[in-house]
Amino acid sequence: MDQLNSTAVPIEKSFLVAVLRPQKPGAPAENGAGLSVLGKATEEPLDELRGLAEAADTQVVGEMVQRRATIEPATYIGSGKVMELKGMVEHTGADVVIFDDDLAPSQTRNLEKELNVKVLDRTELILDIFASRAQTKEARLAVELAQLEYSLPRLKRMWTHLSRQKKGVGLRGPGETQLETDRRLAQKRISDLKAELAVVQQRKEREVQSRSQTRTVSLVGYTNAGKSTLLNALTGSDVYVKDQLFATLDTRTRRWTLPGWGPILLSDTVGFVRKLPHHLVASFRATLEEARCADLLLHVADGSNPMVMFQIQAAYEVLEQLGIEEKDTILVINKIDVLEKLDAEGELPKGYGLQALLNQYPNALGISARTGQGLEELAHEVSEMLSRNFPTVEIETSSANGKLAAYLANYGEVFSRQYREDGTVVIRCRIASTFLGKIRNEEMKMTVLE
Ligand code: GTP
Repeated sequence: MDQLNSTAVPIEKSFLVAVLRPQKPGAPAENGAGLSVLGKATEEPLDELRGLAEAADTQVVGEMVQRRATIEPATYIGSGKVMELKGMVEHTGADVVIFDDDLAPSQTRNLEKELNVKVLDRTELILDIFASRAQTKEARLAVELAQLEYSLPRLKRMWTHLSRQKKGVGLRGPGETQLETDRRLAQKRISDLKAELAVVQQRKEREVQSRSQTRTVSLVGYTNAGKSTLLNALTGSDVYVKDQLFATLDTRTRRWTLPGWGPILLSDTVGFVRKLPHHLVASFRATLEEARCADLLLHVADGSNPMVMFQIQAAYEVLEQLGIEEKDTILVINKIDVLEKLDAEGELPKGYGLQALLNQYPNALGISARTGQGLEELAHEVSEMLSRNFPTVEIETSSANGKLAAYLANYGEVFSRQYREDGTVVIRCRIASTFLGKIRNEEMKMTVLE
């Protein structure tokens, strides 16, 4: 009875494979091996892939790393390793082998033939996770588009699968006609999806542009760093937070009342990983529009993760991919409560911890989005950054002029208010010149100080 009622899909067993290629001396390994807070070798090249495989709801039953200078064109890893892998796959009962890199369609095909199980590459894995997390229409369209574009050159393989599973008359060989039909259908769907996404994107662009009066700050960073938690902590809102990779696939924008400044907009973006598939970046353009248009980025990193330096680097590379690596950015080291707890319990290895990180990143700020520690300092730093190039002015007006006082608080950073006996107030603040232009007609006297 239980079995009949059960809808649970059996968990697939995955086997992970990475190829490590020799690096130039001093350069970090591509997949994070060799980068830790201490700068010592961690020898954990599959850490990230393991997290991704688990995020895709598979159970990791084995791992294999091959060091080789060149890639084998036919099977990516050497033929001896393929045989070794086959033995390990059979031994562990793995259902799927996942490669920590992208494979050419022919490599996947050859490997599947040799190993007799499903073979996924890194992009397919990430796309699969995104597909399972997409909740809004926009995210679903974006993921489907990225998946179809990635699988179009691989359609032959999908068809081969089918013909292998269902042997018999009419199903021997791929059948060119069917393949052509599949391709045409996929291409038609791709162009429909692009058209639908373009509408969404134009709406988003209009929305973002219409807010040009209000400053915007965007949270970016490696997946699971704590961006949504920080958004909640700063804005008092209640967006979905979960201890899973890619919990957020849609941008959420909230109003944040920055002390001494006024309301600004704070937005959350999709989490980053190393080499975010470029089809995905392209189709998530609308979601990433917020980060592109932001006045300031808060790059959030999980200070409690031993791979934090590698994660910071990976997030930075995605910013480069998006062409926004030059934007004003504050690096925020989150989860320092975990580091402090470990320290108090004597569990932190010597030289490891917040101070070690701050030595590496002297301009970073340590915070805990969970306990609120460091958030005041962060808010102060954000005001500073947003108003760096603004003039500081002194405005004298009637203390009854609440409208002007509110405007300055909203659009500028107010340093002081000095009330006088004659019923006037002197407000010293820093504010963008464009906003100053709008208040010149008000009843007031203004002196530009610097
Ligand atoms: P993605 O959507 O995957 O990009 O994740 P995210 O960066 O938005 O992370 P999220 O806010 O969902 O947090 C991930 C996990 O870290 C959750 O379990 C949070 O409760 C936890 N977390 C976030 N900030 C802190 C913190 O300051 N301290 C501790 N101990 N945990 C935190």
